[in-house]
Amino acid sequence: MKLTNYCSGGLGMLVVSVALFGCANSEQQEVGSGGAHKADGIKKATIGFVQTGDLSDWRKAHTESVKQAAEAAGYNLKFADGQAKLENQVKAVSSFISQGVDAIIIAPLEVSGWDNVLEKAKKRNIPVLILDRQVEVKDDSLYVTYIGADTYNEGKLAAEWLVKKVNGKAKVVELQGSQGASPTINRHKSFREVIKNHPGIEIIASQAADYELTKGKEVMEAILKAKGDQIEVVYAHNDYMAIGAIQAIEAAGKKPGEDIIVLSIDGMKSAFEAMVAGKLNCTVECNPLQGPLAMEAIGKILAGNTEGMPKKQMVRDEVFDQSVAADVIESRKY
Ligand code: AHR
Repeated sequence: MKLTNYCSGGLGMLVVSVALFGCANSEQQEVGSGGAHKADGIKKATIGFVQTGDLSDWRKAHTESVKQAAEAAGYNLKFADGQAKLENQVKAVSSFISQGVDAIIIAPLEVSGWDNVLEKAKKRNIPVLILDRQVEVKDDSLYVTYIGADTYNEGKLAAEWLVKKVNGKAKVVELQGSQGASPTINRHKSFREVIKNHPGIEIIASQAADYELTKGKEVMEAILKAKGDQIEVVYAHNDYMAIGAIQAIEAAGKKPGEDIIVLSIDGMKSAFEAMVAGKLNCTVECNPLQGPLAMEAIGKILAGNTEGMPKKQMVRDEVFDQSVAADVIESRKY
């Protein structure tokens, strides 16, 4: 990891504030200088946290990071698992509002569907922090701040790595994450914005596999049947789908990482193992250890100290080529 970007696996990350779904504004701000924030005098505040689901090691690491940071900061955390359903998430937020929690953290499954429940929270003066994924709401004052990865930049970094790797010429399969989720929208869009300047790079198939390993495998199997001979690259929106695709490529009698270049996003330990084994060529980090940053922001929000707090606080990510995998695998925290 670059020292300028991260300190000890997610604590004290460098974040930048940027515009929604883009990278227009580059105002930089250091948030968190290591460790969770203890909010003096508000130690036993109750925070409601609703997660998207529990479907991957990335998501588990994200949940654990929030739980541990809340405990370290002395908060009482109420946790709800959305089980990959937006309606469950909205119900959980409504329930937190009825219970009169002091603040709510939402890791939203999808960008839309949030206006009504956020308006309810605002009427009850309950501040909301959006974590990991972004929302699209009519009125930005419905939440205090967003903290998470710059998923637009991740897709851009992936495309730039690919352009160099294939000298501007390749036939690509894209495995998309779940539809309507901000990382899916951003990783899809920014990847295309880079490759449009390289007409030799062609996307020959693009399908959703919902960020899931099994779906990644199933979707890749179908694409291999339809276009097997043409496929030169798989660009998966996360490592889990890439690992599923690797299994499908092997089952089709081809060598992932050699016959077909595999490129993904997240930087999970399992992706590093696949790179060391020569089956994955690159992963772009999307760091799930966002709990300390979230709790630091919650501490400031509860203390009424939000002056100058950026609306978007984006964590910077790093690109890992397979050539460095063996050297850094031991330092991976998730
Ligand atoms: O929102 C972050 C993305 O969601 C991660 O890339 C992925 O693994 C998860 O499902």
